[in-house]
Amino acid sequence: MDSKNFDLTRREFQLGALAAGALAALPAWARAGEAKSVSGAESLRAHAAARGLMFGIAVVPALLDVEGVADGRSGDGYTRLVREQANILVAENAMKWGALRPSASVFDFTQADRLMRFAGLTGQLVRGHNLCWYADNPDWLKTEASKDNARLLLTQHIETVAGRYRGRLQSWDVVNEAILGKDGRPDHLRKSIWVDLIGPEYIDLAFQTAARVDPQAKLTYNDYDLELDTPEHKEKREHVLQLLRGMKARGVPIHALGVQSHIGADPGQRYTGLVELIRACAQMGLEVYITEMDLNAARTPGGDQEQDAAVAQTCRSYLGAVLAEPNVKAVLTWGIDYSMSWLNKAKFEWATRPDGALLRCLPFDDDHQPLPAFFAIREALDRAPARKLAGGA
Ligand code: XIL
Repeated sequence: MDSKNFDLTRREFQLGALAAGALAALPAWARAGEAKSVSGAESLRAHAAARGLMFGIAVVPALLDVEGVADGRSGDGYTRLVREQANILVAENAMKWGALRPSASVFDFTQADRLMRFAGLTGQLVRGHNLCWYADNPDWLKTEASKDNARLLLTQHIETVAGRYRGRLQSWDVVNEAILGKDGRPDHLRKSIWVDLIGPEYIDLAFQTAARVDPQAKLTYNDYDLELDTPEHKEKREHVLQLLRGMKARGVPIHALGVQSHIGADPGQRYTGLVELIRACAQMGLEVYITEMDLNAARTPGGDQEQDAAVAQTCRSYLGAVLAEPNVKAVLTWGIDYSMSWLNKAKFEWATRPDGALLRCLPFDDDHQPLPAFFAIREALDRAPARKLAGGA
């Protein structure tokens, strides 16, 4: 792994811990005004670092002012926010097959490289997302892939992409969203081009290839609908646990579970089943990352204030539950300002409010001002038990 990045991060954790300690020592009157400050020692990254945690954001590399940062400027509002709040970044789309593979013979790393350059300049860590998924694949893959060449296509993709960023990523989502019970397969795998052409062993193959190519990245299985105490989520947790146990039993290199955390903003929700899953992961030696958090208040009655309250309370209770578990090492939100969220862009029926208002599903608004969710996340980070520092320092 790039030791420079990790040294920076370790130093940051130590500075963060010092800053948090110094603040706590101040009398209350001297801390007046602190509540609304959100940068520097009051940022999410600083509060996360003080607990030995990572806080991260999914970003659009094309929107980052990489040239400005390279020239020593702080960049535009979006760039400043991303730098200020995250100590780990992930590309919202730029490292997916659809972005990297315009044709079978061409790899386009423009946007993925842009993110890596940015993170190199700012000293932020990066997660890779993702190497193998049923969705967002280029159209040519459907016509060109066959039972004869699918293994080669998958392994060559992983060798090329994970190889390019070898040693520079904190983790890789090697396989994304492979479980879907309602597809009716006895192994509960989702129907996809990979399972159709390679068979269920495509998952082991992807992880084994990634481990060979980038032995330092934490190899992650990432999925959604694992969070709630509902029968559907309970069943999916069981299927995912079965997958993870099988992989461990077969000696497949896997180091973490990604829990996407696209959840409804429902303050009364409980997460006891997820906590059990996280503990089962701990017993298998797996870390857990909250990889894509956003809070959907499509069904919350009222207006903006009611949305903000429901989102913030859900952040508080959800992160309160998961961050109490010491093997949960990172929280990433899927975007940072809500107007740019995929939930608002895609106009899904389940993410559309009857009043037509945008979902206020992320910690900042479109003027880059913090929402109640920001403060709820920060408090939850503060309440988390301190983790060991990254890199074992
Ligand atoms: C989404 C992006 O946010 C969208 O911009 C894109 O059009 C589709 O993919 N689970 C995942 C992410 O693992 O990759 C998805 O990202 C959101 C759901």
